[in-house]
Amino acid sequence: MTAAMVRAVATRDSEVLVRVADPIDVFSARWAAQRIATAIGFASAARQEIAIVVSELATNILKYGVRGDIAMHRVDDAALGAGLELIAFDDGPPLTDLAMAIQDGCGDGGPIDPARQLGRGGIGSGLGAIIRLSDLFEYRPGPGRKAFRAVRFVRRPRRPGASP
Ligand SMILES: Nc1ncnc2c1ncn2[C@@H]1O[C@H](COP(=O)(O)OP(=O)(O)OP(=O)(O)O)[C@@H](O)[C@H]1O
Ligand SMILES: [Mg+2]
Repeated sequence: MTAAMVRAVATRDSEVLVRVADPIDVFSARWAAQRIATAIGFASAARQEIAIVVSELATNILKYGVRGDIAMHRVDDAALGAGLELIAFDDGPPLTDLAMAIQDGCGDGGPIDPARQLGRGGIGSGLGAIIRLSDLFEYRPGPGRKAFRAVRFVRRPRRPGASP
């Protein structure tokens, strides 16, 4: 894949906005994030985890938001250092219950019946994975388009409950 193949609305060296409206855009978004993550200085394992975060954000846009955009850019926090910020915007309806949606095995309306997990095209663990693989997570219900924001720092800050 090359930069020209990514359906980017705007691109700079350390910042890109990728349109997500078709399954192929999941690959584009992942590719674009890898490129920025490499430039920021993320190691290979961290880049793989960022790829998972971007895939989950993009897949949720297609499944629930229909279409949207993922903004990606470098951040430099005075205390936490360099990182990658991902903001996934979409046009779909707001979550009915964020606390429920972020629990593994749950949709935003409640626990997913195990018998229906495969048939519904998701086991309800995408947002949980995004949170585990990110250092900051925020849901912005609007006004306007809703958004999910995830930031991953090159040096991960210690998180409560994380192994040393
Ligand atoms: N962009 C979104 N717009 C509206 N609802 C969303 C969006 N993203 C997630 N949700 C809601 O939050 C729930 C949990 O999302 P999550 O990504 O954790 O699981 P999933 O998409 O159902 O399954 P998986 O990600 O494991 O394939 C979804 O079932 C859906 O109800
Ligand atoms: Mg999902």
